[in-house]
Amino acid sequence: MEQETEFEFGVAIPGRILPENQWAKTGIKRLPPPGPLDWTAIFGRTAPVVLELGCGNGRYTLQSALARPEVDHFATDILPVVIRYATRRGNQRGLTNVRFAVRDAETFVRDYVAPGTVLEVHLYHPQPYHEQRLAHKRLVTPLFLADVHRCLAPGGLFVIQTDNPDYWAYMKEVLPVFFEFEEHTEPWPDAPEGRSRREILARSRGLTIYRGVGKAREGLSRTEALKVAKTLPAPTFRSRGPWCDLDALEREGH
Ligand SMILES: C[S@@+](CC[C@H](N)C(=O)[O-])C[C@H]1O[C@@H](n2cnc3c(N)ncnc32)[C@H](O)[C@@H]1O
Repeated sequence: MEQETEFEFGVAIPGRILPENQWAKTGIKRLPPPGPLDWTAIFGRTAPVVLELGCGNGRYTLQSALARPEVDHFATDILPVVIRYATRRGNQRGLTNVRFAVRDAETFVRDYVAPGTVLEVHLYHPQPYHEQRLAHKRLVTPLFLADVHRCLAPGGLFVIQTDNPDYWAYMKEVLPVFFEFEEHTEPWPDAPEGRSRREILARSRGLTIYRGVGKAREGLSRTEALKVAKTLPAPTFRSRGPWCDLDALEREGH
């Protein structure tokens, strides 16, 4: 049987659908009660671990897992429907180095990841929540960043991007406190058309993508990170612009 390629906005979804006898089981139906996950037990091997938070339909995790079979990937999203899509695609591609679970990012990094156990954390297009009354739901806060910093192994990387200039301005203010942060203005070389569904969609509407990579600051202790987090501003910025319409579109379906 011929292997099948899937497309999204005209851009191929990484990998191919394999014959059913080669499918994997990438979904974690129910996470255990809060406590550090045992990556070796989950993946059945000891390997570096990459996390993706708010993974949506999982495009980046699929791509990275296919390109880096020697690395394990754990991705979560708060929305069960998108995790169902991601899991199906992971299964059909036979990806034994991927797991998907439904969980909000904030409590996941806080409660489920042991300190210093992760090689990279990826966060693509966290929801900006344009309405001021929902600003408290914004994921990127100083405390969240302190928790991401805590997850990362020495030299570990936090990769983040958004198409919202107001959120980006806030991120650029707080990220350097926890990470040696560098902005990347060009598309990622491994995914010139976009690493995530939202990036592809936003670029098709002419929006600018703001990207960056931060290396976890070494020598920043947990106590110091928490102390400094308390002194930093919360993400209370006002959000405006054409990207609002795009968010309405996104809510209609993934
Ligand atoms: C704009 S979409 C981006 C999805 C994907 N990362 C991409 O770039 O295509 C935001 C995603 O974050 C998820 N989300 C929102 N709040 C979340 C939270 N607190 N924890 C985890 N995921 C969250 C949503 O369900 C949605 O899938």
